[in-house]
Amino acid sequence: MLFKKTLHIAALLVVAYLMNSFVLRSGIMKDAPPRNDAIERRVDSLLALMTLEEKIGQMTLFTSDWEMTGPTLRATYKEDIKKGRVGAIFNAHTAAYTKELQRIAVEETRLGIPLLFGYDVIHGYKTIFPIPLGESASWDLQAIEKSARIAGVEAAASGLHWTFAPMVDIARDPRWGRMAEGAGEDTYLGSAIAKARVQGFQGNGFDNADAVLACAKHFAAYGAAQAGRDYHTVDISEQVLREVYLPPFKAAVDAGAWTFMTSFNEWNGIPASAHEQLLKDILKWEWGFPGFVVTDYTSINEMVQHGYAADFKHAGELSVNAGVDMDMQGAVYYNHLEQLIREGKVKESRVDDAVRRILRMKFMLGLFENPYKFSDTEREKRLILSQEHLAAARDVARKSIVLLRNENQLLPLSKNLKNIAVIGPLADSKVDMLGNWSAAGDAKDCVTLLEGVRAKWPNAQIKYARGSDVMQMNKVDFANAYAAAKKADVIILAVGEAGWMSGEAASRSDIGLPGVQTELVKYLLTTGKPVVMVLMNGRPLVLGDLAEKVPAIVETWFAGTQGGHAIADVLAGDYNPSGKLPVTFPRNVGQIPLHYNMKNTGRPMNPNDKYTSKYLDVPNTPQWPFGFGLSYTTFEYSDLKTDRSSFDRNESVNISVMLKNTGNYDGEETAQLYVRDLIGSVTRPVRELKGFQKVFLKKGESKTVQFRLSADDLRFYNHDLRFRAEPGDFDIWVGGDSDAKLGTRVTMVK
Ligand code: GLC
Repeated sequence: MLFKKTLHIAALLVVAYLMNSFVLRSGIMKDAPPRNDAIERRVDSLLALMTLEEKIGQMTLFTSDWEMTGPTLRATYKEDIKKGRVGAIFNAHTAAYTKELQRIAVEETRLGIPLLFGYDVIHGYKTIFPIPLGESASWDLQAIEKSARIAGVEAAASGLHWTFAPMVDIARDPRWGRMAEGAGEDTYLGSAIAKARVQGFQGNGFDNADAVLACAKHFAAYGAAQAGRDYHTVDISEQVLREVYLPPFKAAVDAGAWTFMTSFNEWNGIPASAHEQLLKDILKWEWGFPGFVVTDYTSINEMVQHGYAADFKHAGELSVNAGVDMDMQGAVYYNHLEQLIREGKVKESRVDDAVRRILRMKFMLGLFENPYKFSDTEREKRLILSQEHLAAARDVARKSIVLLRNENQLLPLSKNLKNIAVIGPLADSKVDMLGNWSAAGDAKDCVTLLEGVRAKWPNAQIKYARGSDVMQMNKVDFANAYAAAKKADVIILAVGEAGWMSGEAASRSDIGLPGVQTELVKYLLTTGKPVVMVLMNGRPLVLGDLAEKVPAIVETWFAGTQGGHAIADVLAGDYNPSGKLPVTFPRNVGQIPLHYNMKNTGRPMNPNDKYTSKYLDVPNTPQWPFGFGLSYTTFEYSDLKTDRSSFDRNESVNISVMLKNTGNYDGEETAQLYVRDLIGSVTRPVRELKGFQKVFLKKGESKTVQFRLSADDLRFYNHDLRFRAEPGDFDIWVGGDSDAKLGTRVTMVK
């Protein structure tokens, strides 16, 4: 009897393998994954042994009760593991805890299939780097990749296999709190950063258990939520979707991202977690994505609220048939998928495809050889918060800082200062240095601005006063702050948002300084002392007349574990700030959406013509434009040249510009290349970033900076959604921000 059963199973395995090979090799599935025959054979062998319930278990992701990153928790997740009905757990970490849960899966279930452990390691695991929007201000792709690399190393050392990052949503509305988690408003910069972050997290593969699966999220166009209100409706054309919001996701696929996460929002009437065009047609077919797609937190269930599904079971049918492979926390596949298959509403072959994609990852991670390979307490102790990691966090934080204003060269401050007042509700707040989505980051490990200043000026008399709260309206500490300021040579004033005021479910309708912070700044200006305003925030802030009144303004975002030291390095001139804004800072919230690459309209603003596109009460220009950032030195662009004035679609244009450091400090400039397609079969933005280079110049030094622009770089989605470049004139500018004036024109002839 046993022999017959074994023979039967063996026969099944052979048939399963042959069928699978035919499907994959025949090209019927365009998204045939990079072939690893050994893994494919093992996936098929295991799949053939699994019951339907066990398959559905692999498509189920539950959170542990260690953290709550969404509206529901499930107390029975350990029992679910034991029953083989959950294949992945998130919000569980450390080598010890993951080992405990993994043991249940491996030793107490019928097939012993190891769990995947996922977590939101967004800008560091324990060593916390600046929030992603801050890192993006560095425009330093190597630094950004290194930050993700270190995050991956620390996460993998703590039992994690998978991070729910990078968030690659383009965001043009700073009311939306999740702008903090991404790379800002620009598609070109966002795509380059998406690639760097995926490569950082996934490293050189998983053999050494020092890398984690990346997860490009939130697919798609989540950043286009109406009115910047989180989870709100997204109603944009397919042309805009493909031109603005999809390229960073495609860059993530090209960089080898193994997982994707669907977004909460609908796109044009269909929730993303059941959007066949997004998931099947574009992601898995057009782009050949070989990994698996997980939903966001209960986003399948939420299709009932969307008014797209009658009930959870119907939502599950819509999602799985649209291409969602794993259900995060909704327990919809867990409760309804078997019935849906019995009723013929879902084919088991779709389930097999999803399970294959998931098992492939587990085999690739080496979890079947050693389910505990990532749960090594000794390695965890050795790697977490290492000096090397802390030094890297300080370096990336420095590079993320943007100098917005520096009247009369108030900065850098002299190292011989005798009396310094450090004031503000964020000046000595450890927890706010972490920002939002700070994973296992611990506030106690953070260096505050006050601590950084004390370390930088050990012999100075340093007075600290909180001055106000972040949100509360009381001014009880104003007098104390004023008194401290009166005795000082300079006031360093840390104001902005609390870390929780950006990130998920943190939209703001008024993006000014909260509470009475603006009044605090103005009150301290009356001391007549020089004021350096240090901003800590997760989005552009509207500063009103402070933007002209405060002599020095430094944008530091939420700078992470080493933030205080990094900011002090910049204030003291030990690092010459080189950051450039990845987002536009509006003058007021009424201007939103306001980004550099808008359309010209038929009546472009003319101050002398009433009937042109403008406001009665505010200029069209921003407070600070995309790409803007000052330095302690100055840079001059000259002699912009192209090697040809016309080119055809098989040729490129070589562009060169002379860049000179004309100031008194060595420094790094990010030279930016912008292009305008003057006439198109659909209207084109007034400018588009098409290249950038970071250039270090000693004071007085000059360098020729070169760019290459090809016809491919000029492609866009035309009226028929064909991705094409069109002949015609193109204006080109090179400069230090999106307002660059030094320009020339070239023509694509055919
Ligand atoms: C949250 C977020 C998502 C995160 C997930 C798991 O709701 O939208 O970015 O990865 O749930 O915590």
